[in-house]
This record gives sequence, structure tokens and C-alpha cells, in this order.
Amino acid sequence: MAGGVGSRFWPFSRNKHPKQFHDVLGTGETLIQSTVKRFAPICPNENVYVVTNREYKALVAEQLPDLQEGQILQEPLALNTAPCIAYACFKIANQNPAATIIVAPADHVILRDQIFLTCIQQALEASSHERILVTLGIKPTRPDIGYGYIQYQDNGNLPLKKVKRFTEKPMLKMAQEFLESKDFVWNAGIFIWSADSILGAFKEHLGEVYDLFERGTAIAAYSTADEETFIEAVYKKCPSVSIDYGIMEKADNVFVILGDVGWSDVGTWNSLYSISDKTPEGNVIDGDTMLYDTQNCIIKTPQEKLVVIQGLQGYIVAEHDNILMICQRKNEQQVKDFVTDVKANK
Ligand code: GDD
Ligand code: MG
Repeated sequence: MAGGVGSRFWPFSRNKHPKQFHDVLGTGETLIQSTVKRFAPICPNENVYVVTNREYKALVAEQLPDLQEGQILQEPLALNTAPCIAYACFKIANQNPAATIIVAPADHVILRDQIFLTCIQQALEASSHERILVTLGIKPTRPDIGYGYIQYQDNGNLPLKKVKRFTEKPMLKMAQEFLESKDFVWNAGIFIWSADSILGAFKEHLGEVYDLFERGTAIAAYSTADEETFIEAVYKKCPSVSIDYGIMEKADNVFVILGDVGWSDVGTWNSLYSISDKTPEGNVIDGDTMLYDTQNCIIKTPQEKLVVIQGLQGYIVAEHDNILMICQRKNEQQVKDFVTDVKANK
């Protein structure tokens, strides 16, 4: 899934060039490149599909040159994750009804690839012969209201745990209760299921979406004009809904696999700060900088620009494509307001 815009990570993530197409960690790879590489040991390149907005097709092709044209599924508009997942899963099912599928966001960071792949393989194994929907669960560290919360049944050491309740983006009070109750995990937004299970779930819980895609024998073929016309028509009628609200909250065959995989959705500057290497002064630096009496800052500036800072504590200093933002780390929730205001003033 590579169609989101990542607006809280502005000015780095922009409509024209969202987060998944950036080298966010300074590793020399963009997030989408790391995502495809991470799955390479268990998913050959020819089995990878990227679902993205038409606008980002060229970026995907440029960053993942090994993909064939037909592996980049283009959406005419962004309708959230359920239609995106329906498109890919119907396409895969039309080619191989016995397929097992991993759905993954293209803009997340996983620090421990080996543990991650072990979890994914266990989930693939279970979902290949049971009609279940599996999601990856992450131990929560704060009452973040931007995530889905999963309450699971404790079954000792079995890797897959039955989900009692899936609550997408709860109110703060509820998120606090979930955090305290200890039998909740965050939904990482990484799903594992068979083609059969997810199509069945669409039929049961999002019938309208299922009916629209079901007629799509055209999407079995590789990138024909027919497919584009079909998808254009489907997206005009399809509701905008996330997989979490549309299916995961409603289904009763959901399982969660827990893993200490070093996951982050790098949704905000502070989440990047928390997973990055820091200098002894607590600074995270990506760029050419000279710092004096400066602590606990995150500084991400163009390599060709020398940045000299004195006396700054706990700030984000981020420059990208002619926008420089300087914002206190503790006020990072205001970043989305800056985006709105900049749009209104341009
Ligand atoms: N192709 C495509 N089309 N991709 C999309 C679209 C779309 O219309 N909308 C979102 N995506 C991609 C995003 O780029 C991201 O990689 C992924 O799908 C998830 O979308 P977000 O918009 O980032 O979802 P969220 O952060 O609000 O919530 C989801 O992720 C959380 C963990 O990061 C949910 O699954 C939550 O339950 C979960 O906790
Ligand atoms: Mg997200």
C-alpha cells in the first residue's frame, strides 16, 4: 500500500512526494525500497504488487525498477485502504485462487527483519489452511489515538492469538484504559490472509465493495486498457473506507501475532526521533550541521546546506524542497495545521 500522503511528517512528506518515497532513516534506501527488500526472502519480486495513486506511478517505477508495469496497480483516486486492498486481492485471486497474501504499508520501519519474517511466516502458515484474518500486533507504549487497538485472548505460548475486540482509533480516555489493561496491542496495519479468506470477508462485511470488484475479470490480465477503464468505473462508485473500520472491527475470525520487531510507522517527527541513533547530547542529525549548546533536537536538512545552530533545546528543524520548518518537538501535533495553512495561503 503506497498511496497515502503522510501529512504529519511535513515538510518532508508532501503530496507530490510522500514519505514512502523518501530515505527517512538516512540509510540510502527509501521506505518503499526497504519494504520490498524486507520481504524478498519470502516473496519473490514477481509476486509483489504496489497499489498507489496514478500520480505516484512514475516514482514507484523509478524506485523499484525490477517491477514490471503490471505490478504497479494504479488508483484514480485515494479511497483509503479497503478499496486498495480489494483491488490487489481480487487481482491476485483471479490469477491464483489458492494464494496467501501479505498486505503491508510501504512507509513503515521494521528494525528487526529476522524476527519480523519469522512472525510473518507463522502467520502465512496458519492462514494458508484456515479461514482467518491475521494482523501483526505491537506492544503499545502510549495512549496514541491514531492506531487500532486489539484485545486478544491469552492462550499461553501459541504464536497466534484470537482477537476479542478490534477498536480503530479510539477516543483518548478509551486508549488510556486499553493501555492500562495490558491485554491490548496496537494494530501494525500489516495483514496476512488467504485470497479466499479476505474475499469472503469483503463479501460479508463490505458487500458493496465486493460486488463492484467481483465483476472485474478484466483485472486478471496484466495492465490492459480494459483494467484501467474498469478500475476507473469502480472507483467512481466505491465508498471510501479503511480496512480497519470496514472489516477488521467487524470480523470474528481475526487473529493477532505478537512480535517485538522494532516497528514504527514513522508517522510523526517524534516517532522518527524515538527510533533514530542519537548523539550524546540527544540530537538526531541528518545533514551538515554545526551545533552549539543544542540538545534533544531532530535536524533533517539538505546535505548541501551547512546549518549552524546555537542554544536550541527540543526542536524539530526540517528543511525540504524550499520549506524550512522549526517547531518545538512537544508541539508537533501542530504540524498538520501548518500544512492546512500553507495550502490555504498558496
Ligand atoms: N494505495 C493506497 N490507497 N494506499 C493507501 C491509501 C489509499 O487510498 N490510503 C492509505 N494508504 C496507505 C498508506 O500510505 C499507509 O501505508 C497505509 O495505507 C495505512 O494508511 P494510513 O492512512 O497511514 O492509516 P492509519 O495510520 O490512519 O491507520 C492504520 O495504520 C495504523 C498503524 O500505522 C490502521 O491500520 C491502524 O489500525 C493502525 O494502527
Ligand atoms: Mg499511518
